[in-house]
Amino acid sequence: MESWNTYYISHITTAEEAVKRIKSGDRVVIQHACGEPTFLVNAMVANAEAYRDVEIVHMVAMGQAAYAQPGMERYFRHNALFVGGSTRAAVAEGRGDFTPCFFSEVPGLFQSALPVDVALITVTPPDENGKCSLGVSVDYTMAAVKCAKTVIAQVNADMPYTYGDAAVDVTEIDCFVPHDAPIIPLAPPKIGPVEEAIGRNVASLIQDGDTLQLGIGAIPDAVLKFLKDKKDLGIHSEMFSDGVVELAQAGVITNQKKTLHPGKYVVTFLMGTQRLYDFVDHNPDVFLAPVDYVNDPFVIAQNDNLVSINSCVQVDLMGQVASESIGPRQISGTGGQVDFIRGAARSKGGRSIIAMPSTVKGKASKIVPLLDAGAAVTTCRCDVDYVVTEYGAAHLKGHTLRQRAKALIEIAHPDFRDELKEEYVRRFHSSL
Ligand code: COA
Repeated sequence: MESWNTYYISHITTAEEAVKRIKSGDRVVIQHACGEPTFLVNAMVANAEAYRDVEIVHMVAMGQAAYAQPGMERYFRHNALFVGGSTRAAVAEGRGDFTPCFFSEVPGLFQSALPVDVALITVTPPDENGKCSLGVSVDYTMAAVKCAKTVIAQVNADMPYTYGDAAVDVTEIDCFVPHDAPIIPLAPPKIGPVEEAIGRNVASLIQDGDTLQLGIGAIPDAVLKFLKDKKDLGIHSEMFSDGVVELAQAGVITNQKKTLHPGKYVVTFLMGTQRLYDFVDHNPDVFLAPVDYVNDPFVIAQNDNLVSINSCVQVDLMGQVASESIGPRQISGTGGQVDFIRGAARSKGGRSIIAMPSTVKGKASKIVPLLDAGAAVTTCRCDVDYVVTEYGAAHLKGHTLRQRAKALIEIAHPDFRDELKEEYVRRFHSSL
């Protein structure tokens, strides 16, 4: 029998036993997004009485995040690197914390400010060489595996086996808990007429042969709907979802014009339905790699014609972009937005796009004279390039404050343009 197999078999245990390796005061990193090892997280929460002050570090928590629910404060303290639906209340109510960070720098934090005691991960069963794939989520998970004192893995045969720099050796894992379960799905977003109009406007800035980064949500999906007549698009993105599969199967995304990793979809994590997970399973064209590689602006910049597409909460008339908080209330995180905007800025022929509806559900303008008091600026005014709404595209880079304000007012919702114009007159001492 191969020696890796002997190691593997002798380190198989139950979830109940494995989570006893977590000690009070430990810092536990949970695999990101849809890669979350739900079976292990549930076992850890069931064992809560055994712990005090276990710090849970997580980015997008796609599971229930039971460790962050009221009553759990005694046992767990959530430290969010990105606030999601299941952890928003904990951070807002002071039962959890938020650490501002660029996604690309999270692996570095595990080697400096945030040393890892325990990593809870999901892997595929080992292949014939004793390698397990981290599947849909390589991102900071690879660094957590390398840095943690103890690595506990749920071995899930439903996890797609992905290639690239996505595999860990069985000997890097301390406990294996076999448990098959469907990978957490992300339902396709609802795309309404506003998102469609935004999608059309963004698509008008994309050319044949461009390499795309797409954020999460309805807007990136809407953009993809309007790219069906483009040719030879490529993907170098923090994540992608089902929309990319559709364009790949339609022959629109070929990755053939990419100047870095030609022919490959380069990505650090994946979120979608089973259709996406089937597409990436054992697919040699899909290259998953750690986030300190994929999101490194200097790596991104090696792609000519890199176009990044992300969204935000508010943009002020100078072009400062708030993407993660409403006033001081943290609703998400910086994620990879700035990594990609800076990478796109260095890319030959690159462009970056912030795309958003012009209003918050028709009630308030997202283009504002001043950001809400206390809002975090995610993308600063020197970094911003294009801002797109359903009313058009404003090009801000290289333009004066006066030109920026004018361009932004032109793409604001008509109901709010008059008050923005009044601010323009006050600020620039001239009419628009
Ligand atoms: N004022 C008040 N509320 C606002 C608002 C504003 N200006 N803008 C958004 N909101 C509210 C929405 O109404 C919504 O509330 P709800 O959950 O009660 O419905 C909530 O904030 C989220 O906004 P929504 O537009 O539905 O979010 P989204 O899923 O389209 O995501 C961002 C938009 C900006 C939150 C998201 O793109 C993000 O976090 N970006 C930063 C990170 C990033 O870009 N990462 C790279 C790609 S993964």
